[in-house]
Amino acid sequence: MVGTYYNASNHATMPLAGKDATSASCFPCHSGSAYYKYSQNQTTPGYVAATDASQPITCAVCHDPHTAANYGLRLVPVTLKNGYSVSSVGNGQLCMTCHQSRKNIATTITATAPYYGFSDRFGPHHGPQADMFLGQNAYQYGDSTLTGINTHGGLKDACVTCHMQTRGTNSNHQWNMSDSTGDYVTVCKSCHGQSITSFDDIKASSDWDGNGKIEGVQTEVQGMVNNLAALLPKDNTGAVVSMMADSLKVKGQPSIVKGIYTYYFVTSDRSLGVHNAKYTVAILQKALNSLGATTPVELTTFTASPAVNQVALNWETVTEANNKGFEVQRKSGTSWISEGFVNGKGTSTKVTKYSFTDKLSNINGNVTYRLKQVDMNGTYQYSKEIEVSVSAGPQTFALSQNYPNPFNPSTTIQYSLPYASNVKVTIYNITGAVVKVLVSAAQEAGVHQAIMNTASNGMNLSSGVYFYSLQAVSLDGSHSFKQTKKMILMK
Ligand code: HEC
Ligand code: HEC
Ligand code: HEC
Ligand code: HEC
Ligand code: HEC
Repeated sequence: MVGTYYNASNHATMPLAGKDATSASCFPCHSGSAYYKYSQNQTTPGYVAATDASQPITCAVCHDPHTAANYGLRLVPVTLKNGYSVSSVGNGQLCMTCHQSRKNIATTITATAPYYGFSDRFGPHHGPQADMFLGQNAYQYGDSTLTGINTHGGLKDACVTCHMQTRGTNSNHQWNMSDSTGDYVTVCKSCHGQSITSFDDIKASSDWDGNGKIEGVQTEVQGMVNNLAALLPKDNTGAVVSMMADSLKVKGQPSIVKGIYTYYFVTSDRSLGVHNAKYTVAILQKALNSLGATTPVELTTFTASPAVNQVALNWETVTEANNKGFEVQRKSGTSWISEGFVNGKGTSTKVTKYSFTDKLSNINGNVTYRLKQVDMNGTYQYSKEIEVSVSAGPQTFALSQNYPNPFNPSTTIQYSLPYASNVKVTIYNITGAVVKVLVSAAQEAGVHQAIMNTASNGMNLSSGVYFYSLQAVSLDGSHSFKQTKKMILMK
């Protein structure tokens, strides 16, 4: 079964290897046997064109058949061409040895070279997925805050988690992400919601390509790529120039050269923003601005995290021009009401993070938010809408009667916090001496329970009357509460 799917993959057929990539400089990526040698001796290619060219990436290239641990995967340390040493990517490390840029951006685009480093076959080479995924080695227009942005950094095995997700018996050895039945979205659902049926169902935060509609991330990214291509010179096949032969078209025009590199970095990645949406959008936005495109404030992210009685909103911009700020709006019935205003940066070329906490009272169910971004001159545009489910928590502090009561050996004490608070629940005996501190912690708003178990706590208590008290002070210190109640232990 593994074999069937594997045989259909480009790792088995290597359609490009036979055609083009037959020289030692194409090691260790386009030849299975060269990768195998590299995994044994990580410094010397040992590539022999006659025997190594066009060798597929077979089972034994990735798996050492004599090793059982971690499927015997031949993982080797990976350093990207900009010197970044890759870590914490699990089994994705295997993929990143080959699926990485062949250029170091610091030496590829320099201010001094006559052609700004424009070489034959200009660009990062065809598979810069590791660089894109990790937020490394793109042309960042001098913005170091972009370095390391990694929208999918939480995935345990990086590339492997998505490209080798379980999708029926061993079909994960085909590595591609879709077939005639559609997109493989099973892995996406766990984080992006069960309703997703295609990659493009994940909506962009705002209208990135400026066509007046907020579409899926991949469609918006494709729109930005098209906007960028429209500003770049073409070769005689109509493609954005990439060959030395066309270098005269770009001589002395650094913004054009940078734009071309960015164009190829994004299109060669081939995920249209899925690998790392924030990084992709940021570099495209900067490329467009540097070529004089007038683009509005771009939200690279807009998220809402519900908690009891409140929702925390977070968003980011890459560049801003005349941005007065953001009105946070919540839907109420069919109209939108303003929950507050957050001032913008005016004009900025750096990434800016914003946050706003919407305190809600007595709202249970779904609430919808959007941002109204307002320019200095009063024009505005809306972000995407986000719906989150909130639960109205308690509106006041309260301490309930324990149950059961009388009890033996254990009983439950329930209490309510309208705000996140520092909480102490203490048990006293009839003389007022402390028998046990049940809770001493910072706790979220909501209804909580503490269990008093006279058996498991190893206490030797006699039957009789005891007291329990709740002391709570909201984390911001603005509200506090104290109450004591009586309970009876009957053995
Ligand atoms: C030895 C180098 C090497 C390793 C290791 C490697 N790849 Fe590849 N991969 C390639 C090359 C080269 C191609 C293009 C093959 C061709 O078309 O000739 C490719 C093709 C692909 C494709 C298909 C692209 C298409 O056009 O359909 C996907 C997807 C892919 N690799 C993902 C992965 C993942 C995920 C891993 C890690 C489990 C991985 N690769 C490990 C070198 C490698
Ligand atoms: C660092 C690893 C690496 C090296 C070195 C490398 N390649 Fe590649 N190359 C790749 C990967 C990975 C892909 C597949 C990318 C994908 O499918 O997205 C690829 C794709 C290609 C493609 C396909 C472009 C297309 O049509 O999509 C060509 C052609 C190619 N390589 C030629 C070469 C040649 C020639 C050399 C040597 C001079 C070379 N490569 C060296 C990793 C490498
Ligand atoms: C491009 C590298 C690569 C190649 C080629 C490859 N594998 Fe794998 N294989 C992996 C990775 C990575 C995993 C681990 C997947 C994970 O972590 O879930 C794996 C896992 C497995 C597993 C464990 C079960 C599973 O599917 O997760 C089996 C069995 C397996 N491979 C067999 C094979 C066989 C047989 C071949 C040749 C037909 C082969 N592999 C070729 C990378 C590769
Ligand atoms: C969040 C899941 C996810 C992760 C993680 C991920 N990919 Fe992808 N990858 C995708 C999706 C989705 C596409 C786009 C497929 C499409 O639009 O048809 C894609 C496209 C690709 C392609 C183009 C070929 C194809 O099948 O369309 C290659 C090659 C690739 N990824 C390799 C990698 C490598 C290497 C890594 C690790 C550095 C990686 N991916 C990490 C989801 C992922
Ligand atoms: C382990 C959880 C996880 C998995 C699995 C996952 N993602 Fe994500 N994804 C995230 C997180 C977290 C973000 C970042 C959200 C943010 O910063 O706005 C994100 C962001 C994105 C974005 C950018 C959204 C935006 O508004 O900019 C896209 C597109 C995306 N993921 C696609 C996918 C696809 C397609 C898959 C499946 C192939 C997938 N993701 C699998 C957690 C995940």
